[in-house]
Amino acid sequence: MTERPTALQVVEGIDLSSKACVITGASSGLGRESARALAAGGAHVVLAARDHDALALTARWIGEEVPGARTSTVGLDLTSLARVRAAANAIRDLAPAIDVLMNNAGVMFTPFGRTRDGFETQIGTNHLGHFELTRLLIPQLAAAGNARIVTLSSGGHMMGDVDFDDPNWESREYDKFVAYGASKTANILHAKEADRRLRDLGIRAYAVHPGTVATSLARYMSRSDFSRLRKMAAASTAARGEPTDGFLDLLTPEQGAATQVWAAVTPQLADRGALYLEDCQVSEAVAPYARDEQRAADWWTLSEKLCDRT
Ligand SMILES: NC(=O)c1ccc[n+]([C@@H]2O[C@H](COP(=O)([O-])OP(=O)(O)OC[C@H]3O[C@@H](n4cnc5c(N)ncnc54)[C@H](OP(=O)(O)O)[C@@H]3O)[C@@H](O)[C@H]2O)c1
Repeated sequence: MTERPTALQVVEGIDLSSKACVITGASSGLGRESARALAAGGAHVVLAARDHDALALTARWIGEEVPGARTSTVGLDLTSLARVRAAANAIRDLAPAIDVLMNNAGVMFTPFGRTRDGFETQIGTNHLGHFELTRLLIPQLAAAGNARIVTLSSGGHMMGDVDFDDPNWESREYDKFVAYGASKTANILHAKEADRRLRDLGIRAYAVHPGTVATSLARYMSRSDFSRLRKMAAASTAARGEPTDGFLDLLTPEQGAATQVWAAVTPQLADRGALYLEDCQVSEAVAPYARDEQRAADWWTLSEKLCDRT
């Protein structure tokens, strides 16, 4: 494992006791670690995820790790916009002002499937569910005065662009890699346009690549998927002129959660937004199709249309 700061180290010396933070997918991996770190800084952390038992276990674990931690739990299933809307109502009751919304939950390389609203599973879960949640919580984010939206993207966005004509894979043969890439490109476009639209309300937005982290995200991956990813990672490392042994450089969840927590709390990002972050700094490693402001605006309009249909 590589030497990197942990999420807990990122919050050291930062007082979050007046802050309310909402984290999706808080029941495992990067969301769980981010929740622990933000709670350690003193924030009230609203843990949102779909598995009630896992949520209760997470809240209990944070309570053991962080004496005096303030956590609440909310059921959230991003594969149903009706449930997303119900979760937004519950979150509003718990946190009338939201300082940090961390759109963290995600799935990767799922077999072809559709959400309850008919969206392809990866774009529906990773982007459209979060798009709807974010839009419903804008008044609460504005009420905080100085809020941040942190959306988990991935270097994997390089595997695929969004398709404006066929966002839900209705007229193409499904490719789980391209579909994941598209959903992570969607996350970057979302952050870019959210920042443009909401900055006058005191809300700034960021997209984060956490690194390659040992979590349960890989649950749908086969042996050949791993070997394909290893080759891609080695090729991109070699292209940067760095030495590589062909193996993935895996971070622990404690290290992997550092950048999203940094995005949520660092004073270094005050008055800045619409940024892609990696290794606790601003990164330029963004595909050209995810940088374009007009595409970000058009993608927002399409996302609104798709969510408004249900
Ligand atoms: N790990 C990496 O190397 C890596 C790299 C780049 C980007 N990321 C991004 O980081 C984020 C967090 O991933 P992770 O690595 O922490 O994976 P993880 O351990 O699998 O955690 C994902 C979380 O999302 C939740 N989730 C999945 N589907 C959901 C749904 N329909 N509704 C609500 N919650 C749902 C999961 O809940 P269940 O347990 O109930 O499914 C879980 O709590 C993802 O957005 C991922 O794309 C991760």
